[in-house]
Amino acid sequence: MVGNRDCGEGDMGEPMIEFRGVHKSFGDEVILRDVSFRVDRGDAIVILGASGSGKSTILKLILGLIGPEEGEILVGGRDIAPLSERELVEVRRGIGMVFQEGALFDSLSVRENVGYRLFEEDAVDEAEIEKAVRRELGFVGLEDAIDKMPAQLSGGMKRRVGIARALIGSPPVVLYDEPTAGLDPVTKRTILELMIRLRDLEGVTSVFVTHDLHAASVMAGERAVADGGGGVRFLSGGDGAGAARNRFVMLQNGGICFEGDYPGLMRSTDPYVRKFVS
Ligand SMILES: Nc1ncnc2c1ncn2[C@@H]1O[C@H](COP(=O)(O)OP(=O)(O)OP(=O)(O)O)[C@@H](O)[C@H]1O
Ligand SMILES: [Mg+2]
Repeated sequence: MVGNRDCGEGDMGEPMIEFRGVHKSFGDEVILRDVSFRVDRGDAIVILGASGSGKSTILKLILGLIGPEEGEILVGGRDIAPLSERELVEVRRGIGMVFQEGALFDSLSVRENVGYRLFEEDAVDEAEIEKAVRRELGFVGLEDAIDKMPAQLSGGMKRRVGIARALIGSPPVVLYDEPTAGLDPVTKRTILELMIRLRDLEGVTSVFVTHDLHAASVMAGERAVADGGGGVRFLSGGDGAGAARNRFVMLQNGGICFEGDYPGLMRSTDPYVRKFVS
């Protein structure tokens, strides 16, 4: 485990994920060249970049599925590069991954898909798993779909099940790979609201990779607050309601051509950033 999701104010400002001078190539092709960035505990980072710029590669490096040729990747303050596969399994337990298209197992029910991680562990009893599965399905508003098979779900429902699956076991870190790609505006909004709630109300450290600038602007411009009656409200606008702790990184040619907040991204004079945002 990289830490507890329920973190207090005292934990803020502590790096949860950090890349230090990371190089990654596949064969002769250099994908990441001296890439450094950090995400503090409870913060979010949006990594923007064109197709093929290395966004999914960054997520695979954080999960320790692939290793860098150079540099350090710290998760919860610990460099994961030298870890054994067994130690990496422990690290991955603290990270929820939302795959593009949901990536559900077609032959498993929604219950089995969401509970997969816990079913695999053996140590957790069935009643506990059922409770956890229902809690995460409740969070994404799909408790009624628990007995369904993936083929019976719409694309948007699959994405929400994919989020519930990532949240099982309350990992303190959640990685999202293009979670809004190919969705209609209403479903996309639902997914973004879930991500904002996790960031603002659940203390989750989030890494969101996308080429969707509109999704990025929603993450930057809105904040979730509990309304006191068990509901959630989303604040937006120029009144400082936007997410101060949501950072942005843009990849280009293997490097980072922008790092900072959303207003900074919009004001950037870097020619590639201008092309991307216009
Ligand atoms: N296992 C691999 N072996 C060889 N090349 C790879 C491998 N994984 C990724 N690549 C290459 O690395 C580059 C970056 O891939 P990556 O999947 O990280 O891009 P991406 O930014 O996620 O793109 P997209 O927006 O299309 O998902 C691509 O050129 C890809 O072909
Ligand atoms: Mg990708």
